[in-house]
Amino acid sequence: MTDKLIIFDTTLRDGEQSPGASMTKEEKLRIARQLEKLGVDVIEAGFAAASPGDAEAIHSIAKVIERSTVCSLARASEKDVRAAGEAIKPAKHGRIHTFIATSPIHMQHKLRMTEDQVVERAVQAVKWAREYTDDVEFSAEDAVRSDMDFLVRIFDEVIKAGATTLNVPDTVGYSIPVLWGEIFKQLIARVRVPNSDKVIWSTHCHNDLGMASANSLAAVMNGARQLECTINGLGERAGNAALEEVVMAVKTRRDIFTCDTRIDTTQIVPTSKLVSSITGYPVQPNKSIVGANAFAHESGIHQDGVLKHRETYEIMRAEDVGWGANKLSLGKLSGRNAFRTRLQELGIVLENEDMLNAAFARFKELADRKSEIFDEDIQALVSDEGVMHVSEHFRLVSMRAHSETGTLPQAQVTLSVGGKEQQAEAQRGGPVDATFQAIEQIVHSGTELLLYSVNNITSGTDAQGEVTVRLAKGGRVVNGLGADTDIVVASAKAYLNALNKLDTGADRAHPQV
Ligand code: KIV
Ligand code: ZN
Repeated sequence: MTDKLIIFDTTLRDGEQSPGASMTKEEKLRIARQLEKLGVDVIEAGFAAASPGDAEAIHSIAKVIERSTVCSLARASEKDVRAAGEAIKPAKHGRIHTFIATSPIHMQHKLRMTEDQVVERAVQAVKWAREYTDDVEFSAEDAVRSDMDFLVRIFDEVIKAGATTLNVPDTVGYSIPVLWGEIFKQLIARVRVPNSDKVIWSTHCHNDLGMASANSLAAVMNGARQLECTINGLGERAGNAALEEVVMAVKTRRDIFTCDTRIDTTQIVPTSKLVSSITGYPVQPNKSIVGANAFAHESGIHQDGVLKHRETYEIMRAEDVGWGANKLSLGKLSGRNAFRTRLQELGIVLENEDMLNAAFARFKELADRKSEIFDEDIQALVSDEGVMHVSEHFRLVSMRAHSETGTLPQAQVTLSVGGKEQQAEAQRGGPVDATFQAIEQIVHSGTELLLYSVNNITSGTDAQGEVTVRLAKGGRVVNGLGADTDIVVASAKAYLNALNKLDTGADRAHPQV
């Protein structure tokens, strides 16, 4: 008999707390739909009290998601809990996740509350949450540095108040597997009040020491039956436990784990690519499961072994996690209906005909330059700001970049700024630098460039390059994305996408949890 391991995905909440990873409502909806297709049990869709935009995004996700539970985070305050309760109201299955810190350092310096006050607040928050739903999760923030007797006390009290899931976070990524497992063993043995046998114990680990996945799995081996994680391990600071790692560990080591998930593992790579492309966080090539090299065998000895018998060097099959789903999608001659059907198959919903027309026009443009269009190209194309989200105050009208050995690269750009065309040119050490300089001569943004990266969307020299540009201004950080078969053009699009996000405030402030 295997138990069910509940997969709680917090890409849209803890993941969004990565610098510059804030997402628009439409982007969150696309990811939520894909998470449902992936089979996650709970989608933590945001933190309703953080901003009206966050509340609206949770509400919209709650309306469309059917199989997964939709959850909102809330501090242990009446205002937060009620905002979460309102946001999840349309959900078929809705959860409120309330939390308060329980470690001496947090209680003394951050909350300035005594233990008794913290317990009282936690109990009250769970009771408020129960007015909206009978699915209430309570987290003891910084549990890793909390006193065991106090944890037992607060968990006893919140169960009595109606909490159904008890989450134990390693908020600062401080634990190591043997200790984290021991914490679960002790908590499960010592928390003994009526209904304590019915609650689900949950683990939430951060990756500051690189052990988030290992710690989470140690908790599972000691009784945790909910695991909180994010796609690609995205999240605050060094990130959270990576969904792809923990799910594949449980599946691959059935000899050790006595539980199973309901994740459709063939959706792991497509979900990873979608999250990477929307957030602008590239996946490192040697990242387990979802990195480009995760199943590539470089040395002759390994290649020979795999050819003779795959299992000599492979513990998982690439196709089982969705590699090779790099499907040839459409071609130059594909029509509007074929395009619409493929979008539907990919779970991409464009809200109106104008969006579909804009996406189809970009598809035709791309098909003229690239002989084979893959699913990933279509995903990138609908992320394009002209199709999807941010209003285009700054729009690239045309550009030219020139590189020649022995001369300084030069770029000329024509932008539409609020509907008016302006032109500038610049010379710099490289064509991308010259392009950014020319754009700056027009916009004078006063931003600081924090990151520039290029990735190929599919393989081959005619692949589209996907560029991420991270800009900062006045404490705000945004990621801009641009895709094109010409990486200098993709760079200009990414730069303008970031400027548009700053201009429209699409990077609303991150909640400080
Ligand atoms: O890391 C943490 O403690 C959290 C809680 C809000 C669960 O994200
Ligand atoms: Zn966290």
